[in-house]
Amino acid sequence: MTGRETKAVDLWGGHFAEGPAPLMEQINASIGFDKRLYRQDIDGSRAHADMLASAGILTAAERDAIHEGLRAIETEIEAGRFAFSPALEDIHLNIEARLTDRVGEPGRKLHTARSRNDQVATDLRLWVRDTIDALDPALAALQAALIGQAERHADSAMPGFTHLQAAQPVTLGHHLLAYVEMAGRDRGRFADARARLNESPLGAAALAGTSFPIDRRMTAEALGFDRPMANSIDAVSDRDFVLEFLAAAAIAAVHLSRFAEEMVLWSTPQFGFVTLPQDFTSGSSIMPQKRNPDAAELVRGKTGRVIGDLTALLVVLKGLPLAYSKDMQEDKEGVFDAADALILCVRAMTAMIAGMAVHRERMAKAAGVGFTTATDLADWLVRAGGVPFREAHGIAARSVRKAESMGCNLADLPLAELQAIDARISEGVYEVLSVKASVASRQSEGGTSPVRVREAIAAARERFL
Ligand code: ARG
Repeated sequence: MTGRETKAVDLWGGHFAEGPAPLMEQINASIGFDKRLYRQDIDGSRAHADMLASAGILTAAERDAIHEGLRAIETEIEAGRFAFSPALEDIHLNIEARLTDRVGEPGRKLHTARSRNDQVATDLRLWVRDTIDALDPALAALQAALIGQAERHADSAMPGFTHLQAAQPVTLGHHLLAYVEMAGRDRGRFADARARLNESPLGAAALAGTSFPIDRRMTAEALGFDRPMANSIDAVSDRDFVLEFLAAAAIAAVHLSRFAEEMVLWSTPQFGFVTLPQDFTSGSSIMPQKRNPDAAELVRGKTGRVIGDLTALLVVLKGLPLAYSKDMQEDKEGVFDAADALILCVRAMTAMIAGMAVHRERMAKAAGVGFTTATDLADWLVRAGGVPFREAHGIAARSVRKAESMGCNLADLPLAELQAIDARISEGVYEVLSVKASVASRQSEGGTSPVRVREAIAAARERFL
């Protein structure tokens, strides 16, 4: 027997005559990825040791030895000096074995009234909580970048689209504030998930609780949880907190992806609305004129994997009987992957938003292309002529056809042409047919008028920053 096999056999208290097959070790070991939970695992063990000592299950000296050992292990891991072993399966057994190496007997007592099932559920809750706490300021920084550009472009006109067809003129500031709202709801979703996940599984043990006189409230409080989870079976068998995180992450990524797609479009020579910061684009090895929006494309692309991570875990869980099954070990890589991808996307988008150059003139010109003030003509007929909107809509449509056939804009149609379509049209109509007038007139609450946009910017600062 090699030393490694001995160790693995020892894990199960001599119950196994042989070590695992090499392939078993390969499929079974999670240390390659769950070492990311080391800090949470150590914190959980600290809280558990303190509680065991206060319940009289460990002596104060044993507790102190465990603390000292855990401190040393934390240092070893952080310095890159810890030898992670696949034979020891996962982060929990790796740390426990090392603790016993260092401090002896007290290390062997730490697992009293605990199982890896409640341990891993605790670690992962702590990790997701920490990740949400890191994501929130990143999303706030994204909102700050959006608000900053919105402020500079509170009255910069651009075409607003529906069906990606020019619809009505809007301001860029207004458009950017739409993403501020989305990011605000994303933050809210993460905060909601955080509030629900903040209960402690520790003390559920394998699934049924324990016969030891433990104090779950004490460990819950030490780890910053609001309370112990109410049901020990639920505590070790559900991962809905991971699903909620992944769902919120997928939605946030989809929001970023939509804006990334707009960046890709807007930065084409055909649109020419923005130039993305050069350090977030790449050139072409063959076409010297190209500036490719790679980072925006990758935000769009990485969204696929975040959605995939959510789907994968839903599928993993859907057929599992209670309580713990090893399938659940598959929860971690997806959540790490999604969190890494999302935070990277948020940061890249923040930098691109802050650094993009906006071509105001070009955008304003495009805002008037496609008869985008046709609705303003119809609205004017309703207001000035008392024409029912349906009828006004028809008159405006005929005016658009006329302008199209004459090869001019609505605002350039001679009054006689307009009056030939409907006699109720008078000189005053020209006041509403420009892009500037159109945008300025949309003063309804939440509308695109620069007056409203400036108010919305001030409100967004209050609400989000
Ligand atoms: N590495 C395992 C996981 O990630 C820890 C829990 C193992 N529990 C067990 N009963 N084998 O899920």
